[in-house]
Amino acid sequence: MLEIYTLGEEILREKGTPVKIFDNALAILVDAMFETMGEADGIGLAAPQIGLAQRLFVVDTRRPNERLVFINPQIIETSVEQVSYEEGCLSIPDAFAHIVRPAEVTVQAQDLRGKPFTIKASDLLARVIQHENDHLNGVLFIDHMEEEARQKLLESYYRRHKRRD
Ligand code: NI
Repeated sequence: MLEIYTLGEEILREKGTPVKIFDNALAILVDAMFETMGEADGIGLAAPQIGLAQRLFVVDTRRPNERLVFINPQIIETSVEQVSYEEGCLSIPDAFAHIVRPAEVTVQAQDLRGKPFTIKASDLLARVIQHENDHLNGVLFIDHMEEEARQKLLESYYRRHKRRD
């Protein structure tokens, strides 16, 4: 199990650097990320959340063919259609909010061997990809909220969790 960093930790606000070496250590790291995510009952986990400012994340929506690793991802297309969906984050435990984002995205990334692939995603997968991709740029789902709603969420969050700044 890896430690999951939570709100207030600087690493969550850092921009990740590209992964350059596709070796066994990377495969072991990704395995550990899947395990940590599963234990925490999450459906996505990005490297900054485990303290690594690198451009990779894992996803497991528990749907067929949706257990995926995205290394050096780039969202190359987003749909005009936007949808609202309730999001949470392993780095902001027990906090949830409806966030509006494009309904579909096309993402290019590399797999564990460095091989490029492209996925057009919709529904939950599109949502998770966008949320996790944000993490690689130091962005959290609360950043997409209206100021007033965000303040309310944070007040409630800090009533239940120790402030880490
Ligand atoms: Ni998150």
